[in-house]
Amino acid sequence: MILGAGPAGLVLGNLLVAAGIDCVVLERASRDRVRTRARAGFLAAHTVRILERHGLAEGLRRHGRPHATCEFRTDDGRFVLDYGALGRGERHTVYPQQDLVADLLGRYLAAGGRIRFETEAVAVRDADGPRPEVAVRDAEGRPGRWRSRYVAGCDGQHGAARRSLPPGAVRHHRDHGVSWLGLLAEAPPSLDAVGYATHTRGFAGHMARTPEITRYYLQYAPGRPADAWSEERIWDELELRMRAAEHGPLRRGRIVGRQVVDLRSDVLEPLRHGSLLLAGDAAGLISPSAAKGANLAVLEAEILAEALIDDLTHGDSVGLDRYSARCLTHIWRAQEFSQWMIRLLHSPSGAGGEASFHDSLRRARIDSLRTSRSQQDWFAEHYVGV
Ligand code: APR
Repeated sequence: MILGAGPAGLVLGNLLVAAGIDCVVLERASRDRVRTRARAGFLAAHTVRILERHGLAEGLRRHGRPHATCEFRTDDGRFVLDYGALGRGERHTVYPQQDLVADLLGRYLAAGGRIRFETEAVAVRDADGPRPEVAVRDAEGRPGRWRSRYVAGCDGQHGAARRSLPPGAVRHHRDHGVSWLGLLAEAPPSLDAVGYATHTRGFAGHMARTPEITRYYLQYAPGRPADAWSEERIWDELELRMRAAEHGPLRRGRIVGRQVVDLRSDVLEPLRHGSLLLAGDAAGLISPSAAKGANLAVLEAEILAEALIDDLTHGDSVGLDRYSARCLTHIWRAQEFSQWMIRLLHSPSGAGGEASFHDSLRRARIDSLRTSRSQQDWFAEHYVGV
């Protein structure tokens, strides 16, 4: 039983069905919503290798675009890192997540996978036994029950799996004290790179999604509503922070999506509770500062699939016993780098000596990234790695 049809749930479902294991995905959203929901879009090299290994990379091979540079714009000037030529020489593949999810869904159904859309998991019960039960509610609100040998909680940070964890579950968490206004613009990319701008008015970010759609981020006052600023105010603020006067104007267009994102992170430990296992955002939430979320979700799904296949096909439970520890190693390394990026891109809040000291450290980190080859290699390895 898999809760959730996001990257984690659908990669897991594809791998289990390919191994001949019967599974069903319970997804609260409609098929259309699942296939069109714009989310992330930067696939790490490791993620592409996993998808290729399992024959799930056809769409991204055809339509994905390699990406290997990021540009920093700061008070001390602008510099570009060709991270694809640094560290391990790995690149991202830009491929909108909704396209990847649509590919995964199509392959899963074509392989005989079962899914129930508009079916919300309400709770997972008897997880410490061999036949956990999932209580569900369908689109008409009718209750139902499903039982299976294992339940994979791939239903995100607000899903039923997290709500059903036993008292022993530990949640490590951190509120980074920073909010972003995430924007989706009907406009071609303005840079050939991922753009990171630090400014006294706050952070601004630029990430291409497709040749016609670009994602922007603006550091934003916590609690301010997403619709507080007009489109013109948004573009003016983006141009101010990205220093358009020095580096050229941004290519404007209609803002077709807005969402306030409070940068928070959390990690649940352990990721296995008897017959209930967590993967993706259900296992841990990571800030979008380093585009790690979807990549961790795919990695965890492959590790979980291998463990479940060993157990259900060969009666070997070693993979399941080690699942949590294996994933947490990757999760904490990703969290550490994401935290480093947040500190690099945002001036500390507050005033006085403490804040100015931390801001000077931040500028020294940027300067080290600008000038030190070893720091650039470290950055490239962690920026693209998982
Ligand atoms: N019952 C059934 N389905 C649910 C429930 C529920 N109670 N709650 C949530 N869902 C579904 C959501 O509708 C969604 O389709 O679970 C799915 C979770 O998908 P994601 O949020 O994409 O989570 P995941 O697969 O873990 O991928 C995580 O991908 O979205 C990007 O970068 C983002 O870090 C994130 C990563």
